[in-house]
Amino acid sequence: MKTLIDEQELARGVARMAEEIRQRYGDQPLLVIGVLTGGLMLLCDLVRRLEMPLRLAVIRASSYRGEMQRGVLKLTEDSLPEVAGEHVLLVDDIFDTGHTLDALIRTMRERGATSVASAVLLEKSGTCQVEMKPDFRGFVIPDVFVVGYGLDYRDRFRNLPFVAILEPGDLES
Ligand code: XMP
Repeated sequence: MKTLIDEQELARGVARMAEEIRQRYGDQPLLVIGVLTGGLMLLCDLVRRLEMPLRLAVIRASSYRGEMQRGVLKLTEDSLPEVAGEHVLLVDDIFDTGHTLDALIRTMRERGATSVASAVLLEKSGTCQVEMKPDFRGFVIPDVFVVGYGLDYRDRFRNLPFVAILEPGDLES
């Protein structure tokens, strides 16, 4: 498996994002909502670097169902936290077509969030199909399928501490 972003680079990227978020919000209280399951690693590493008042929640949204092709977005509505009057920061693993975050942001606004921003570890270049872009992002990557640091292929590889490009030969083992 070919490493695309190693552990040290990931740590530097997350620290940079945390600093940008701190600068944007100052001491304003935040509701940080991690998007399961891929956003978990970034969520944990990011919030530990955010020295500001915040609350944590998670939400389940999936569009891939473990496959390498794009699928239909599924939002688990009953996992949505109360967001009315909150400054919400959504944390996800990757911005690909953008449909997942776009839908989540609309939902948070409809439910009365004071503001909604998004932070992603990765943004694929040239694949965006929506009008918005993430407010904070760690790295821009080419249009390749990646795993590790939360990202999976059929629920495998999430535990890799680095981000790697998944190639057909990697699926034989
Ligand atoms: P969209 O297209 O809605 O996709 O921006 C966001 C979600 O799709 C998944 N995704 C990937 N998962 N490797 C993965 O393991 C990838 O290269 C990849 N591209 C998109 C991911 O769940 C993300 O939250």
